[in-house]
Amino acid sequence: MKRIISLIFLAAICASPLIAQQKKAVNPAQQKMDSFITALMAKMTVDEKIGQLNLPSSGDITTGQASSSDISKKIKAGQVGGLFNIKGVDKIKAVQQIAVENSRLKIPLLFGMDVIHGYHTVFPIPLGISATWDMDAIKKSARIAATEASASGINWTFSPMVDISRDPRWGRISEGSGEDPYLGSQIAKAMVTGYQGKLQANNEILACVKHYALYGAGEAGRDYNTVDMSRVRMYNEYLPPYKAAVDAGSASIMASFNEVEGIPATGSKWLMTDVLRKEWGFKGFVVTDYTGIPEMIEHGMGDLQTVSALALNAGIDMDMVGDGFLNTLKKSLAEKKVSMDQINRACRLILEAKYKLGLFTDPYKFCDPTRAEKEVFTPENRQVAREIAAESFVLLKNSNNTLPLKKSGTIGLIGPLSDNTANMYGTWSVAALLDKSVTVLQGLKNALGNDAKILTARGSNFLADSVMEHRYVNVHNPTYKRDSRTEAALIKEALDVAKKSDVIVAVMGEGSEFSGESSSVTSIDLPETQKNLLKELAKTGKPVVLVLFTGRPLALKWENENLPAILNVWFPGSEAGNSIADVLFGNVNPSGKLTATFPQNVGQVPLYYSHKNTGRPEAGKFTKFRSNYLDVTNDPLYPFGFGLSYTNFSFSDIKLSSNTLTAGKSITATVKLTNNGKYDGKEVVQLYTRDLVGSITRPVKELKGFQKISLKAGESKDVTFTITEEDLKFYNSNLKFVAEPGDFKLFIGGNSRDVKETSFKLVK
Ligand code: BGC
Repeated sequence: MKRIISLIFLAAICASPLIAQQKKAVNPAQQKMDSFITALMAKMTVDEKIGQLNLPSSGDITTGQASSSDISKKIKAGQVGGLFNIKGVDKIKAVQQIAVENSRLKIPLLFGMDVIHGYHTVFPIPLGISATWDMDAIKKSARIAATEASASGINWTFSPMVDISRDPRWGRISEGSGEDPYLGSQIAKAMVTGYQGKLQANNEILACVKHYALYGAGEAGRDYNTVDMSRVRMYNEYLPPYKAAVDAGSASIMASFNEVEGIPATGSKWLMTDVLRKEWGFKGFVVTDYTGIPEMIEHGMGDLQTVSALALNAGIDMDMVGDGFLNTLKKSLAEKKVSMDQINRACRLILEAKYKLGLFTDPYKFCDPTRAEKEVFTPENRQVAREIAAESFVLLKNSNNTLPLKKSGTIGLIGPLSDNTANMYGTWSVAALLDKSVTVLQGLKNALGNDAKILTARGSNFLADSVMEHRYVNVHNPTYKRDSRTEAALIKEALDVAKKSDVIVAVMGEGSEFSGESSSVTSIDLPETQKNLLKELAKTGKPVVLVLFTGRPLALKWENENLPAILNVWFPGSEAGNSIADVLFGNVNPSGKLTATFPQNVGQVPLYYSHKNTGRPEAGKFTKFRSNYLDVTNDPLYPFGFGLSYTNFSFSDIKLSSNTLTAGKSITATVKLTNNGKYDGKEVVQLYTRDLVGSITRPVKELKGFQKISLKAGESKDVTFTITEEDLKFYNSNLKFVAEPGDFKLFIGGNSRDVKETSFKLVK
């Protein structure tokens, strides 16, 4: 009887719509992959499974070395899941061959690399490219990067870096998309989809979003430093871009070095499992950052065995360079400090990534030797890099229409970056052809032909102190040959050039490695020796155009007050000189907008537009006992979203379709944008809101939408945004994602400061 009842029960469950739905949801491709991997794993020993979790750096082994090296022995023994820092089809093919011909189970390897802003064709640094606010362009740059890298055998890039940062002292602010979670999320999505496509073709590679989590919020802007913040802040301001990358299907994610709530991210089960997998539904694999596991020993979390077990149990699947998994997990298994289930989980996820890439069908899928010549550093790719670079430049100042320059007369081209190939690229240009970039001098010559005369002078070194300068610029590769003359002699030569010139183009700022990893600073001023030069040039009374190279927001108060024109070009990449000439001479009208606030001075840091009001907000001028400084206002020098154009745009007042937004419905906000100037141009129309009363305090402004609009001189266009309840949601103190009814302000403008304003109500 009992049996009959349970059979009936079973039949009833199977017939239930829920089960039917679940059955339908299992897709055949997934099933095929699952059974393939299950069958493979059934053959694997524990050692071989642990081997898949190991990611050593090759140090770019040559083929010959590979076959005899320690790594090669490990590959044969099934102790390596992937390798990174190796490039070139021949080398990668030879190493893959070791895995698929000489290891017992013939499991192919992943080949990773930091393809951060292009491969041989280098695009602007990420902070620069974010200033385009052009998602199609950003996606295209990632697509080209994936195509070029995969033509060199790479099938996995450690990008995008989506760490929100509001601290220009941190060198790695250059690698991300700035300070804003909404914009950062859009960019994260564009990059992941650009790299991965459908993960089918041999130019579609795995993305790895990093550094999860909160790496950009280290105390005092010092790299690898402690992070401690409320969960409300994490959820609202720092986590969204990682989540956006996960939602876009990023195949992998990299743990960050820093601690979060007292636990290094690499050992945080809350981050790696509870949030990432349970809340966000992440299905890919998690890799540590470089030696992230053994670094937990220094953090004070225990010995190598303890921290390796901690990482695996937290949800880490792959150990980059740490050797902790390889050397301790088996022991931990025997001692029941980790379970077979955890090892299986990690192994399965890595095998799945290889399967999705198609490596089990063709381990040499990314080793086609004919591709590199046709697909890498092509004129087409370089043309795209040139166009995107020009779009990324931010015109910070342009009084008296100093720019664009005329293609006539004499131009004095002065500064340590005016004729420098290797420093056009910026940080993490791992595959850049150091001598193949277009220098500023070359770019100007290309544009001018015989139309104008160019006189040049170095003017200054990067830094006055040669020992310090070496630390800043030559640490990876010798990229800069110092001029041994004295500061006075260099300035004198520059002034001689200036005297003979109609206009001075001063090309200066940071070298490539001033920013990037382990490049934090406590001063964000232009180096003194460069500023001395600028001061002397300004005294000549000739117009001085500062073409500024930088990987971080700098403090430019003096420059802003004393120079007529400042064009911030970040690090433009392969086509630097051509794209700079395009903008200087007006072939391209600049349209870049800052994605990180430029403060007046370093003491204001962290300074960001989306701050809270406090109970004693600044009152427009210094007032005792209000939240302000004695010495400077709270204003930035250049706000988030700021960037000038050669033309002038004006915004009409905002028209709302209704002043009431009912939950489940939408309203629209429209402005008429007019190009009042003489040049065709592009404006990034930015929409912000402010939630006036909340169950928790809300920022004074939050970006909720943007559109990049092209307008011919004299043309006008209505620009419309749709706003729904979804746009007004935030994480409340219970970390529930909610929109609260009440009054909102809505702002539209060309930057976060200069906006039109209206208001509406959300009703439920
Ligand atoms: C960086 C990562 C990078 C990794 C591999 C680390 O030092 O933090 O961003 O992906 O090295 O090169």
